[in-house]
Amino acid sequence: MRLEGRTAIVTGASSGIGRQTAREFAGRRAHVVLASRNRDKLEALAAELADYPGHRLVVPTDVTDRLAVEALVRRTMEEFDSVDVLVNNAGIGLFAPIADGSLDNMHHLLNVNFWGAVHCIQAAVPYMRHQGRGHIVNVASVAGKVAAPYLGAYSATKFALTAVSDALRSELAGTGIHVSTVYPGLTDTSFRENMVREVEVPDPPPYLRSAGPAAVARRIAQAVRWNLRDAYVSLEDLAAVVAYPLAPALADWAVRLLWLGPDRGVPPPARPSRLAEEPTEPSAADMIEPPSEST
Ligand SMILES: NC(=O)c1ccc[n+]([C@@H]2O[C@H](COP(=O)([O-])OP(=O)(O)OC[C@H]3O[C@@H](n4cnc5c(N)ncnc54)[C@H](OP(=O)(O)O)[C@@H]3O)[C@@H](O)[C@H]2O)c1
Repeated sequence: MRLEGRTAIVTGASSGIGRQTAREFAGRRAHVVLASRNRDKLEALAAELADYPGHRLVVPTDVTDRLAVEALVRRTMEEFDSVDVLVNNAGIGLFAPIADGSLDNMHHLLNVNFWGAVHCIQAAVPYMRHQGRGHIVNVASVAGKVAAPYLGAYSATKFALTAVSDALRSELAGTGIHVSTVYPGLTDTSFRENMVREVEVPDPPPYLRSAGPAAVARRIAQAVRWNLRDAYVSLEDLAAVVAYPLAPALADWAVRLLWLGPDRGVPPPARPSRLAEEPTEPSAADMIEPPSEST
């Protein structure tokens, strides 16, 4: 689909990849709906893009809130009378061990990265069906194909999003609605700074190159323009994904080495985070009277 004159909703538009995607779409003469939680940042971006062709609409939205997402799509329809493209980009990260990581953090991660995207899809597809056209781009990650230590919960949200993309594409075949999945690798944004960290994981080695967010935004626009099923940003990312199932044990070793460094470990959390969440009220077991000493 050509973007010129089309209406595109971009979630997570206040920063990084989403912000660059809004810019890329505006450059391609689309009307862009800027959605994320931070109104000030969205308004600043809308002002920056004022000279580009097309219109910008700011709709502060928390994607974990289904009703807010429905209102976002309704507002888009009121303003532009169509919703042609949905970019599910809003996302957060988490460094946490699976075995004793915080369940609250994992639930929140799923709420944003997985349920947030599902909310947007369910809100937009009825309008796209009615129009007989639409394009949904789900921003997954190389981590949605290859899991790394302490990124397991994050990876799980992106594996899930990848599965949703593939199933949805088949379910919508013949409706005029297309679905793409974009798999960025390391990208130079505030993502890592914004991550919740239950454990400290070393920075990636300098020879692992990061892409700029503009390169990812370009791939997102190309995915819409050329109806790409899966879009990778660099050859290294594609090679990692292709190599992984060919030699999984070797790949696990290589990922551990790259991700954690030669000593292949990170310090354990000061206190297992799960324990911090356990209820403080005494459990039934605590209340059982100790047996009295026999006389
Ligand atoms: N950077 C990387 O290395 C990398 C690699 C692979 C994939 N990705 C994926 O790319 C996407 C964008 O990440 P980024 O690198 O651009 O990170 P970023 O700079 O931290 O941006 C994340 C965006 O998500 C928004 N967001 C967070 N929680 C939200 C919520 N509950 N509701 C609505 N919006 C929310 C944030 O805006 P507000 O705070 O205003 O809500 C922000 O605009 C994510 O899905 C991420 O998983 C990133």
